Amino acid sequence: MTPINLLEYEILAKQHLSPMAWDYYISGAWDEVTLRDNRAALAKYKLRPRMLVDVSQRDLTTEILGQSFSCPIFIAPMAFQCLADPQGELATVRAATSVGTGMVLSTMSTKSMEEVALAGVPEKLWFQLYIHRDRFLTRTLVERAEAAGFQALCLTVDAPVLGRRERDQKNQFTLPSGMELGNLVDLQLPQTARESGLFAYVAEQFDPGLTWKDLDWLQSISKLPVIVKGILRGDDAVKAVEYGAQAIIVSNHGGRQLDGAIATIDALEEVVEAVGDQVEILMDGGIRRGTDILKALAFGAKAVLIGRPILWGLAVEGEAGVRHILALLKDELDIAMALSGCTKIEDIERSLVQ
Ligand code: FNR
Ligand code: LAC
Repeated sequence: MTPINLLEYEILAKQHLSPMAWDYYISGAWDEVTLRDNRAALAKYKLRPRMLVDVSQRDLTTEILGQSFSCPIFIAPMAFQCLADPQGELATVRAATSVGTGMVLSTMSTKSMEEVALAGVPEKLWFQLYIHRDRFLTRTLVERAEAAGFQALCLTVDAPVLGRRERDQKNQFTLPSGMELGNLVDLQLPQTARESGLFAYVAEQFDPGLTWKDLDWLQSISKLPVIVKGILRGDDAVKAVEYGAQAIIVSNHGGRQLDGAIATIDALEEVVEAVGDQVEILMDGGIRRGTDILKALAFGAKAVLIGRPILWGLAVEGEAGVRHILALLKDELDIAMALSGCTKIEDIERSLVQ
């Protein structure tokens, strides 16, 4: 039977994935407290719907960084999508394109950014950047993204080292033979005893010395707008804007980095209050229902990004599965808007949630 919601997709996806891939996708760091808190915190907020508004016509379209999208639901950057489906990121981008929404492609994709851009609509794509110690290599990634038509660089700032996901450590997580780093074909995940190959890769390759000044560097080598992903405090948001960020993604990496970090819905309002009048704020982490999106938008997010459920759709049914996940969320948001007296995205305002 076709799943009717995202939770059912998650249950079904487990049967379609190797134990190592499932563990990698589902895991949070350490005790997974933050992973659970993202959901628990969303459930804690309540909606205050308005009645007797004419909601016979509803419009979910939105504009972000000057580009229009069919709904405020983006696909979060996620590594290694070929573990879920042979088409991997190509299937995901085709689904995003057919729904008319945006996708952020991970540096750590298993298809190359050029292939992904060709399979989708570059105007709706952003490239997620991990700055490597090798700045020449990093610069090449940035230049390739710009040349391929990606519209923005999404700089992830919450991963100077990788969070410890203990299942990956036990599994000695690595990619199956034949699967490669699509954007970094000369590099591989190392094989290390009692260690996740990704953890070892990040320790070797990512630059743990990044500071705000690197935003200047990034803007000196590229004309693309920079979006900073992984902010959880108002003062950091102010710094990001001072250093030229054009948008901010409030994120704790789906609970995969610092366990014990604040839930994203709890961090969102402080960031919105600090810089929401200057840049666009997006949020991810634990979004599984249309009502979750409504809450995030009411707290001031312009859009949300969806992580793991996209992988569940991909694992169950490839491109069609991802399309269905997006359609389910869009439909749930549409109903939730109608039931709370909203006919368009701008109607979703702060007083709707408490
Ligand atoms: C991620 N995330 C992530 N973020 C990033 O900036 N670059 C990346 O390569 C990845 N890779 C990645 C792989 C997997 C398997 C997951 C689950 C997550 C984090 C992702 O973009 C997003 O912040 C969270 O996944 C959002 O939380 P939910 O929706 O998964 O709860
Ligand atoms: C992850 C990295 C790749 O969360 O961002 O697995």
